[in-house]
Amino acid sequence: MTPAPVLLSDYQPYPFLIEQVSLRFALLPQATRVSARLDLTPNPARPGQHDLRLDGEGLRLLSLRLGGTPLECQPDATGLTIPAALIPAGAFTLETEVEIAPEGNTALEGLYMSNGMYCTQCEAEGFRKITFYPDRPDVMARFRVRIEADLPVLLSNGNPVDSGAGWAEWDDPWPKPAYLFALVAGDLVAHSAPFTTAEGRKVALNIWVRPGDQDRCAYAMDALIRSMQWDETAYGRAYDLDVFNIVAVDDFNMGAMENKGLNIFNSKFVLASPETATDDDFARIEAIIAHEYFHNWTGNRITCRDWFQLCLKEGLTVFRDQQFSGDMRSHAVKRIEDVLMLRARQFREDQGPLAHPVRPDSYVEINNFYTATIYEKGAEVIGMLKRLVGEDGYKAALDLYFTRHDGDAATIEDWLKVFEDATGRDLTQFKRWYTEAGTPRLGVHEAWDGAGTYTLTFTQTNPPTPGQPDKGAKVIPIAVGLLNPNGDEVLPTTVLEMTQAVQSFRFDGLAARPVPSILRGFSAPVVLERDADAAERAFLLAHDTDPFNRWEAGRSLAKDVLARMVTQGAAPARGWLDGLAALVCDDSLDPAYRALALRLPSEDDMAATLAAAGHVPDPDRLHAERRRMALALAERLAPHLPGLMEAMRVTAPFAPDATQAGQRALFNACLQLASRLDGGAQARDAYARASNMTDGLAALVALLDLGQGQAQLDAFETRWRHDRLVMDKWFMLQILHAAPDQTAATVARLTARTDFDWQNPNRFRAVIGALSANHAGFHQADGSGYRLLADWLIRLDPKNPQTAARMSTAFETWRRYDAGRQQLIRAELSRIAATQGLSRDLGEMAGRMLG
Ligand code: PHE
Ligand code: ZN
Repeated sequence: MTPAPVLLSDYQPYPFLIEQVSLRFALLPQATRVSARLDLTPNPARPGQHDLRLDGEGLRLLSLRLGGTPLECQPDATGLTIPAALIPAGAFTLETEVEIAPEGNTALEGLYMSNGMYCTQCEAEGFRKITFYPDRPDVMARFRVRIEADLPVLLSNGNPVDSGAGWAEWDDPWPKPAYLFALVAGDLVAHSAPFTTAEGRKVALNIWVRPGDQDRCAYAMDALIRSMQWDETAYGRAYDLDVFNIVAVDDFNMGAMENKGLNIFNSKFVLASPETATDDDFARIEAIIAHEYFHNWTGNRITCRDWFQLCLKEGLTVFRDQQFSGDMRSHAVKRIEDVLMLRARQFREDQGPLAHPVRPDSYVEINNFYTATIYEKGAEVIGMLKRLVGEDGYKAALDLYFTRHDGDAATIEDWLKVFEDATGRDLTQFKRWYTEAGTPRLGVHEAWDGAGTYTLTFTQTNPPTPGQPDKGAKVIPIAVGLLNPNGDEVLPTTVLEMTQAVQSFRFDGLAARPVPSILRGFSAPVVLERDADAAERAFLLAHDTDPFNRWEAGRSLAKDVLARMVTQGAAPARGWLDGLAALVCDDSLDPAYRALALRLPSEDDMAATLAAAGHVPDPDRLHAERRRMALALAERLAPHLPGLMEAMRVTAPFAPDATQAGQRALFNACLQLASRLDGGAQARDAYARASNMTDGLAALVALLDLGQGQAQLDAFETRWRHDRLVMDKWFMLQILHAAPDQTAATVARLTARTDFDWQNPNRFRAVIGALSANHAGFHQADGSGYRLLADWLIRLDPKNPQTAARMSTAFETWRRYDAGRQQLIRAELSRIAATQGLSRDLGEMAGRMLG
């Protein structure tokens, strides 16, 4: 039976305000006692007499007092109701004592244990597993916390008040919703640094890790300090407590969590050394450290009224971390990487059965809505707003947002209103980006009158999505530039503001018919449907002054080439090979950018593209043709590879910065190609000589792609078997790079190992996530990949429904494939849906995917 959905339209303020919460934790693995005292008053926004309803799940109620008097009251399955008749007028207190068992908490939500350490995860609705409380983001209160445990490090939110042997007290002066509560207790060591804010506040920064890991924190600390400085200069926002603690946890469902003053991180996104982490890992750590830190203002100081407004904090915070990473590294490279991710995850979601608006209006399980749409499309929508109102308008709107809403639990309406008030714009139509799901498709028609006037006519179509058959036209900022036939720019980047379903823009006084560069910088999250010919794309690949569109020209050329190889058995086109070769050999270009240009479209992306064009993608054929394409590229570049590799070789000591990372990326992209021609000789040599994880893994991948590398895998295992994070890579790579018909067998072999600790989310994702990321392996026609995934989801679900539900999205693309595969996937989804005792999380996902 499907539980009733929660509806945005049902929102009502909570009938009580909470001035202060005092919590006491007596920590024991099997029987932790949590005492809570809430100081309540009636909420003037909800006049009248109301029951006091508190959320609570899996709590053993030991005692309950109202205004100091014991009360007999039985909780139900989801909470506790104190009838209005019993509630005194005016201010009153409620005291509860409950018992919980963190050791048995495998869902990793609420209070749980990881390697002997106590920790919490409360977003979105985990606090109700800790104590009875109105667990909703618009109830904001001051928290004071006392922790009692026989452990050396006891942490909570805010500032430390006092501590002694076996206890510590914390006080958070900033009112906050319960989802930002956190507690950590364990045998931890700190990597510390001081920081002074622009306002002169001295802050103690600590990164807490298990003993032995403290030498892998330096990069995260450096990223934290740069994030704090950046938020001061870019947004004028300074930190607001005396301490900032980060804790690394091995068992964590997500990337990290922005609890006030006490961020909790998946250890994968904190710990790094050159030997154990790749350049991509370093970049991701920098981005996530920044993201969680930036939440202090966008999320914590200004939070969300309800979970429908999740993008208010997540879209904005992603947008801010993207700006930060661009400033730290390269804006062009960052933009390309973000768009690759957006297309791979968000477009895929938006075009399938799980499509939902950036601000949804209903959900069954909120944990299922921490999606690429909320996060990444949420950030794109802000990028469009910024383009429409300009730098100054954006700055004025954000300043107004912070002054007007500091301390509030706000809504998307509040957010849009500050833009309207600061810039005088009407954003009524723009709001559709928040309320309507789906990726608009943008058609282009050009006309040249032969007498200097050139006209671009755009047509937008907004395809139907679940529950939203019809949609209005959206406001689409289309950044365009025009080039003349010898490659000079005759119109620099200009933002056209499209508001109608069909709309034309005229450019006069041109000497010759121009070549358009459309959607520069990927100025809107749409699918551009332009039937440009190969010659025009090659021209833009050679001449576009917009780095994003120059890359994009190469990308769309590559996709056309691969599509033709797959559907017509064509040979890899010479024009693409020559254009790419010229770009890759252009020393004036950033190596990181050139490395990105060498990356071929993914099989999943191609499958989506072929399906949209009316073909039924054949995963095996796609895989084989993509390999043929890579071989052709290797042959075309062969004369240049030795020189390029020599030029990109890093001789200086390892630094995880953008410059070195770019050189390694281009070197390793070349190594990958060279390996296709030399039988793996250079990769074997590179593996043996590698002095950092980036180079070592790249060489290993090159060998695995050739069906080799067993000796290297064995050596790797011998060296790293005691390191969980490094071994996750070892598990993942073997599956990701297994031949299609070997993928299921590889998964079966690896999951049979004793170190396949499937209840650890990182290990589960490394193995089962890699299964679904190996496109041709997952989509084997015999259904072996589908069956394996379903088996593991069904097994994980009772232990950790949140992670099981997230990983079920591997099935969301089923409608793209042939009838046989569709039937196989539907059968697995039905099997999941029919499982006894299935979680609300996975039940909702299976139901939505079956449609
Ligand atoms: N709020 C976290 C972030 O984006 C993500 C998260 C959600 C973590 C739910 C845990 C649980 O930064
Ligand atoms: Zn976030």
